[in-house]
Amino acid sequence: MPFLAQRLARIKPSATMAVTMKARALKAAGREVIGLGAGEPDFDTPQNIKDAAKRAIDSGDTKYTDIGGTPALKKAIVAKFKRENGLDYGIDQIIASTGGKQVLFNAFLATLSAGDEVIIPAPYWVSYPDMVLLAEGTPVFVPCPQNNGFKLVPEEFEKAITPRTKWFLLNSPSNPSGAAYTKAELKAITDVLLRHPHVWVMTDDMYEHLVYDDFEFWSPAQLEPRLYPRTLTINGVSKAYCMTGWRIGYAGGPKELIKAMTDIQGHSTSNPSSISQAASVEALNGPQDFIPKNNAVFKERRDLVVSMLNQADGIRCPMPEGAFYVYPSCAGTIGKTTPQGKRIETDEDFVTYLLESAGVAVVQGSAFGLAPHFRISYATSTEALRDACKRIQKACAALR
Ligand SMILES: Cc1ncc(COP(=O)(O)O)c(C=O)c1O
Repeated sequence: MPFLAQRLARIKPSATMAVTMKARALKAAGREVIGLGAGEPDFDTPQNIKDAAKRAIDSGDTKYTDIGGTPALKKAIVAKFKRENGLDYGIDQIIASTGGKQVLFNAFLATLSAGDEVIIPAPYWVSYPDMVLLAEGTPVFVPCPQNNGFKLVPEEFEKAITPRTKWFLLNSPSNPSGAAYTKAELKAITDVLLRHPHVWVMTDDMYEHLVYDDFEFWSPAQLEPRLYPRTLTINGVSKAYCMTGWRIGYAGGPKELIKAMTDIQGHSTSNPSSISQAASVEALNGPQDFIPKNNAVFKERRDLVVSMLNQADGIRCPMPEGAFYVYPSCAGTIGKTTPQGKRIETDEDFVTYLLESAGVAVVQGSAFGLAPHFRISYATSTEALRDACKRIQKACAALR
């Protein structure tokens, strides 16, 4: 009898973590490496949020809380959904968890039985398929090619729906492509969903606030209220509030679903950290003015990276609407040979070449389900980005 559970055979370790670790190992060996793999803002958590955490510690907010979050945090989440998305959720329709990751995990564990299908547009965030597989579900991928802005073609989406489809998983703005659906584009998707009332909508709005050029963000249940009774709206403080390490994510949805997710959480982690919850109350209720300030910096970096990558031989980089990623195609490098005599066959070969000969760590598109591409996170200093893009240009020019 094998010691490890069979379910482990279904999943693979995170490719984004693997790149970070490879880059770290090269650095430890004395190589100068620019890491563009990590999906977290380089900005520090705002001071008012840190102060709220310190106050929580000093005033004894150090005990277990309600499993799904303190009343104060749930109230702040209810207010956020109302204020920013026009969504009305009651306190009993809210759960706070240890990161958006745990929210997603709870939701899949609570709803998937063997063979239930989850439609995932590709490219997708690396963890989605593995989470579905761990919960015994079946991920169904719908390719969203670069020539459609990495967005779903409604007809292709509709073709993927079967009687076993339980969830449609939307992530806009997207990790890894940065693509975000305009109101009209999202309407075309919600129209498809209205024709299939058995399909539930899981929307991962984690990058809601990270949009540029006056892009207007819409969440599915906000745009199409008829979807509200079958939508789980997921969000968190990690990205917009620069709080990745604090581990707070949350969701609003139908009461029965939230209760089932809370029951599961009660047997895994119980409540998310009481101190992080207090900090998140301040994040959601406190001043929001640092978000546009950070976005101005992100936008400048995005524009720089897109422009410099489009000057590299064999690379084509579209301009994404949001998040802090670009997802260029490296199709023009496939079939070429490196100065070391190695032929580039795949995007994985290309990113290995970039890491080993240019000292730039990026993640291959195959990890996100759409190749040949690679993902660059521009949540790092402008200076490092400029240097990295110069190195990429040089590495591409050296291919024959
Ligand atoms: C699309 C997406 N969803 C969810 C998460 C999870 O975020 P967290 O668990 O930090 O809240 C991430 C983090 O990288 C993400 O990119």
